[in-house]
Amino acid sequence: MNKFNIAPIGATLIVGLVAASAVAQKHPGKLPPLKPVPYRLIASMMKFECESCHNAKKHPENVDLSSYSALMASGEKGPIVIPGHPEKSKLLLYVDGTKKPRMPFKSKPLGSAEIDLLRRWIITGAKGK
Ligand code: HEC
Repeated sequence: MNKFNIAPIGATLIVGLVAASAVAQKHPGKLPPLKPVPYRLIASMMKFECESCHNAKKHPENVDLSSYSALMASGEKGPIVIPGHPEKSKLLLYVDGTKKPRMPFKSKPLGSAEIDLLRRWIITGAKGK
């Protein structure tokens, strides 16, 4: 599975990645792979933006975002993160406004830099380190 082979999901932020994907497919090995986003950056985002509602005690829709293992085990109908597939990962789709209600619930949407970081974490394998 080529990790650059992501479906375009409409967000202007990933246009560059999609273009890179086309180049990578034509010229394999010409582009360096994306650097994996470390989980600690995602953990602090979850802590500040999500954990007041999604934690070990309260977890609407069976979503507990208070640790990597809880996050990866979250979801009422299957996982909320599919590594390598931002377009199938509810964790991102509820944050970028694709799915409603937008998260964080009833508060200011995340900024585009945070959303992009979350997307890149998923694209680069949603690693726990
Ligand atoms: C103020 C409380 C609150 C905050 C903060 C919050 N959520 Fe939620 N979240 C909810 C509630 C309530 C639901 C159930 C919503 C519904 O289905 O009506 C939910 C549902 C979800 C779902 C599951 C949707 C589904 O149906 O499978 C995801 C994924 C999610 N939240 C992610 C996040 C993320 C990521 C953050 C932080 C950026 C966040 N939430 C912040 C309250 C919150």
